[in-house]
Amino acid sequence: SPFLKTDFIGKNYIHLESISSTNDYAKEIASKAENGTIVVSEEQTSGRGRLGRKWVSEKGQGLWMSIILKPELTPQSSVKLTQVAAVSVVNAIIETIELNASIKWPNDIIINGKKICGILTEMNAELDRVNYVIVGIGLNVNMNKFPDDLKDKATSLFIETGKKIDRKKLTASIINNFEKYYYIFLKEGFEPIRISCLKHSVTIGSEVRVISGKNEFNGKAVDIDNDGNLIIEIGDGSRKAVMSGDVSVRGI
Ligand code: ATP
Ligand code: BTN
Repeated sequence: SPFLKTDFIGKNYIHLESISSTNDYAKEIASKAENGTIVVSEEQTSGRGRLGRKWVSEKGQGLWMSIILKPELTPQSSVKLTQVAAVSVVNAIIETIELNASIKWPNDIIINGKKICGILTEMNAELDRVNYVIVGIGLNVNMNKFPDDLKDKATSLFIETGKKIDRKKLTASIINNFEKYYYIFLKEGFEPIRISCLKHSVTIGSEVRVISGKNEFNGKAVDIDNDGNLIIEIGDGSRKAVMSGDVSVRGI
């Protein structure tokens, strides 16, 4: 693509017509694939979200993409690549569509209160060494409607702008931004990413309900810490840190 301005991410670009999930395909080829390989599919027949949830991935209407990375990072810091991706998608949407998108911690991108993009980061690690990380990004681009159960909570760039969006430019912009913030993360650590997440966050400052297995509580989201955890202030003024892996955060 003439729009791609990266050193290594997307140099190897695999485009599929149909696949169960680009994350699954990426996992299958990861050990042999070069760092920065991208897998994109026109359609996913069993796209996945976090916690085993289903991700609706209609043919030709969205960007269903996985990035294969082989970073020299621990599993604990690789988790933060979800937030690197979130910042990249938000910036790509602002730059190419001029729409104001925000981040719902940790892995959703929201426009006008509705979910437009989800990020699913998965990894393969031994002890404290990461073999590979798959960053899966699902962005609703040109669909004009959603199944009934998603009607009130999902949106697309077409629904928000009334215009059909050229996926090539947008995809390149997401990849360009991702490489930029990935380098920043590797060189300067999480702090600049954290600041960017805070700047674009819809979660910070709002009252939330945290659901983590059987444990549920309400509080006010007040910060993101250096590990990428969400900091919640509860009724007695004390603070709790919640990890991204296994929680659902709902506005109340
Ligand atoms: P919530 O806060 O809504 O519980 P979550 O971020 O905890 O969401 P995830 O598992 O990250 O949930 O995301 C999967 C959810 O996203 C699904 O349960 C479904 O509600 C929603 N979803 C599925 N496909 C799409 C899509 N194409 N666009 C927007 N939302 C979708
Ligand atoms: C979420 O919101 O829970 C994350 C959704 C992630 C969807 C993307 S689409 C490309 C990649 N392949 C998948 O099966 N899931 C991710």
